[in-house]
Amino acid sequence: MPRIRVEPIGVEIEAPVGETVMDAVCAAGYFWPVGCAKTGECTNCAMEVVSGLGRLSQMGRYERQNLLRQRGTRSVEDPRLRLACQARVEGDVVVYKRGVIPD
Ligand code: FES
Repeated sequence: MPRIRVEPIGVEIEAPVGETVMDAVCAAGYFWPVGCAKTGECTNCAMEVVSGLGRLSQMGRYERQNLLRQRGTRSVEDPRLRLACQARVEGDVVVYKRGVIPD
């Protein structure tokens, strides 16, 4: 199973292939900052992908549109910025997200 490491909290969990980063981390007992119903609208869940960018599902049009709308052009110029509620794991990744805490 793919492994997700979340910094700076330093937790590492396993996730089934195809699960979103957020759902996997929450299922392991952690809170991930959100501002919508995990639909890709608010972008509050945005994370930086430290490694394994190619082991996440590709960014869809809806994710891209909402990043553009909420965070501006520069947000989509950097492919490391992804929405944790939309990005699905396909292999090992390391991500950085402040505010992830034990639930
Ligand atoms: S939780 Fe709102 S965009 Fe991911």
